[in-house]
Amino acid sequence: MISTDTDLAVERLRAGGLVAMPTETVYGLAADARNADAVARIFSIKSRPTDHPLIVHLHDGDQVDLWADDVPEPARVLAATCWPGPLTMLLRRGSGVHDVVTGGRPTIGLRVPGHPVAAGLLERFGSGLAAPSANRFGRVSPTSARHVVDDIGHLLDPDRDLVLDGGPSIVGVESTIVDLTADPPQVLRVGAITERDLERILGSPLGEAHGPSRASGMLEAHYAPSCVVYPAADRAAADRLVSRLRRQDERVQILDRADDPVEAARSLYADLRDADAAGLDALVVVLPPAEGIGLAVRDRVTKAAAGRGPTSRDG
Ligand code: TXA
Ligand code: MG
Repeated sequence: MISTDTDLAVERLRAGGLVAMPTETVYGLAADARNADAVARIFSIKSRPTDHPLIVHLHDGDQVDLWADDVPEPARVLAATCWPGPLTMLLRRGSGVHDVVTGGRPTIGLRVPGHPVAAGLLERFGSGLAAPSANRFGRVSPTSARHVVDDIGHLLDPDRDLVLDGGPSIVGVESTIVDLTADPPQVLRVGAITERDLERILGSPLGEAHGPSRASGMLEAHYAPSCVVYPAADRAAADRLVSRLRRQDERVQILDRADDPVEAARSLYADLRDADAAGLDALVVVLPPAEGIGLAVRDRVTKAAAGRGPTSRDG
């Protein structure tokens, strides 16, 4: 089911199948965004609630007007500066976009991914691909073809679907999401492109994230492995916590990549999966400084930890 054959992937998509697609952030589970039945299958394979809309991936920023209406000037500036790359823009949804893609919302998320295999696939496919991260809902996002197969391989149809292997994702955390329908624009999910980067590019401050787009899809608990995740402010705090947990006979390890936030982001999801594979009860993660991509790592680790703790750990 794992292949590097982009032509076969295009064939499968045209026939209404699903293709797990490598991107620079994480692997996505892609369907022809104009094929409502194919898109609906993504939701059933992921067990994803239908009110969580999908990002539509494009080959080129010039295609934006095929999917969005009333595209504001700041969106043009960000498209020209950040695409291809790890930025998703929420725009007013164009007519002809299926409800199943947008969850019936008036907005649509668009992104031009920077991964060469994704770019080649999108170019040959020629239209938009709706794709969420290729993991079961609420679990850890995949950053390799193997992760996808481990997580949802048994739910894919080997005769209709495909996992396209483009190597490990180099960014490692999902794209930054910025809502351009708000004035000023708001960041709804932090990623490799920071709020400060966007403010610098736009030359004006962004707004505080709130409202309905903030609420849906931006769950507090997400990205969770089976073991309990504990964020630690620094190494000393992590060491203290580990000693305490070990006295309670917990199988626990420390994950400390705080001095290399880029690598911390790139390997975070593989590290969380490895912790489960090693049968750990808990993983104590030393948080990188709250700047640059470190902000996205802190966000994901905090969400992986949310709603769970030593007293509630059955999720
Ligand atoms: O890096 C990424 O963005 C990856 C790769 C595959 O492109 N995709 C990804 O998709 O992370 P997903 O579905 O796992 O996360 C997208 C988030 C969801 O929380 C979804 O609810 C939100 O974006 N979203 C998408 N379209 C939206 C819209 N129109 N309004 C509000 N939220 C939206
Ligand atoms: Mg996801």
